[in-house]
Amino acid sequence: MAIKYLSKTDPGKLDGRALVRLDFNTEDAWRMDAAVPTLKSILGRARLVLVVSHRGRPKSVKITAGKPSGFDSNLSLKKDALRLQARIGRRVHFLSGFNWRKIKSELDSAPRGSVYLLENIRFLKEESTPEPELARQLSELADYYVNDAFPVDHHEGDSVSTIEKYLPSYAGLQLEREIKNLSGVMSSPRRPLVLIVGGAKTADKLGVIKKIYNKTDSILFGGAAANTILKATGVEVGKSLVDAKADLKYLVKLAKSKKVVLPIDWAKEDDAIYDIGPKTEELFAEKIKSARTIIWSGPMGQIEKNKFALGNLAVARAIAGNRGAFSVTGGGETVSFLKKHKLDKKFSFISTGGGAMLDYLAGKRLPGVEALKKSK
Ligand code: 3PG
Repeated sequence: MAIKYLSKTDPGKLDGRALVRLDFNTEDAWRMDAAVPTLKSILGRARLVLVVSHRGRPKSVKITAGKPSGFDSNLSLKKDALRLQARIGRRVHFLSGFNWRKIKSELDSAPRGSVYLLENIRFLKEESTPEPELARQLSELADYYVNDAFPVDHHEGDSVSTIEKYLPSYAGLQLEREIKNLSGVMSSPRRPLVLIVGGAKTADKLGVIKKIYNKTDSILFGGAAANTILKATGVEVGKSLVDAKADLKYLVKLAKSKKVVLPIDWAKEDDAIYDIGPKTEELFAEKIKSARTIIWSGPMGQIEKNKFALGNLAVARAIAGNRGAFSVTGGGETVSFLKKHKLDKKFSFISTGGGAMLDYLAGKRLPGVEALKKSK
């Protein structure tokens, strides 16, 4: 079955209570900003909106009578209620617990146009277990479901890929943009295609590289991904961040590939590599200049510190300077960085997804997107 897009849905079908899954998992609020058009469009039609989202990967949260305790307060969505309120111009009521009966009765008596935000759904371990009980509970709070949480659509989750079994489900406006823009990139990419890989989670990224290797002309490595390959080939990387889970044999194979460009110099401190060096910046810029398709995932260094953000800035500027290429990037840190340096508008498409973007580009089926296709 085909995905039902919110943008093409008869407003008459959207009159009831909407449960909207979003992804607020960034330090700043740019992912929330990306969801505002969807929320505004639903608010004009729905009787009530209940937003469900997550932050981080919380472990062992105690739940007593629906109330979470013992969690890292940075992972609570309480502050997000105020942020959201400022963006949509409507009061957002925060639901700090998961007492479903209480929530249901509050929603039942809420006036038309009310907006609610549920506490971090990942405080409930049931969100990521295969049993559908939580999805069923959530579905009783709404008449239909909207998924505008592309960054988390590559993970299974009751509020991501199971709830569609119980409610008519739609793809939100940002998810529609993601699907339309990202589907085109790999189907017949203009060559040369340059893939730039940085950041952590190297093992996950290697799986994606394997899938799209034949379509790439150059693969440039920075960040922990580069450290991991350099170490595998015997380069002394000291205390640099590496991913011990990455497939050693494949790393060595990659290092020998003519397509692969590894850093030739770097910025070090306390025996650890924190950024690519100026010669590498030039080498990377040369490759980026001649590209016709550019895919960038993950920072080149420890960009939280300005002194180690120079390599990342050089790469961002090189991509921004290539106006003839179709350039795509995504992910929490990278997009926050581009926005800070006012370079985001120079990219052809900015995805809200990090891992989800890469998986989608590699042709993997994302559980959250697949579930929408099968929804009732
Ligand atoms: C993200 O930030 O990419 C998404 O929210 C998914 O986060 P996770 O991979 O930590 O589950």
